[in-house]
Amino acid sequence: MDFFLDTGEVNEIKEAAKWGIIDGVTTNPSLIAKSGRNQFDVIKEIVEIVNGPISAEVIATDVDGMIKEGEELANIHENVVIKLPLTEAGITACKWFSDNQIKTNVTLCFSVNQALLAAKNGATFISPFIGRLDDIGHDGPGLIEEIRNIYDNYGFETKILAASIRHALHVREAAMVGADVATMPFKVVKSLFKHPLTDKGLEAFLNDHKKANNLN
Ligand code: E4P
Repeated sequence: MDFFLDTGEVNEIKEAAKWGIIDGVTTNPSLIAKSGRNQFDVIKEIVEIVNGPISAEVIATDVDGMIKEGEELANIHENVVIKLPLTEAGITACKWFSDNQIKTNVTLCFSVNQALLAAKNGATFISPFIGRLDDIGHDGPGLIEEIRNIYDNYGFETKILAASIRHALHVREAAMVGADVATMPFKVVKSLFKHPLTDKGLEAFLNDHKKANNLN
């Protein structure tokens, strides 16, 4: 399973990249707005830090506007993936990008049928938002499992990118049902390292070592 960082904060990406476990980055207009910076500047910096797929989302809502913006973003670096909303225009633009060998991430997916549309038009990634589904009492990880089954039934190569991940349990659930990628906020990636028994065990090992060697 690949791990992407879901953020527009370059400092978080620099820190997580040092751990060697980050395979890519996803951004969206809200995350870029939170960074207080221009999308092009942020993406230009990210591609220099992480050598993997970097999703940058279009703002346009019409096909021509999406293609124009997407081409500009794709020109930044070969690793830039064009993020398109799951609308008629987004799915139409997805076909154009696929036909022109530009990678895409179709976002705001909340149903299996939406995921099928993205796969039919050659999306590189589909992003089911599991946290937002859980928020309204639906089964986010269950959606990933259904998409996995259906993509496998038909041999679709679109990768399932579990998005809107809120906590470590979501990562486990997405992995259990076969998501190809999990994109996570920095604090969720950090939480994956933690277990109270690891901390307790390490403390005991270090204390025993000190005692055995008369160190204080
Ligand atoms: C990533 O591609 C998505 O934009 C992101 O995971 C959405 O997360 P949220 O539901 O926490 O805003």
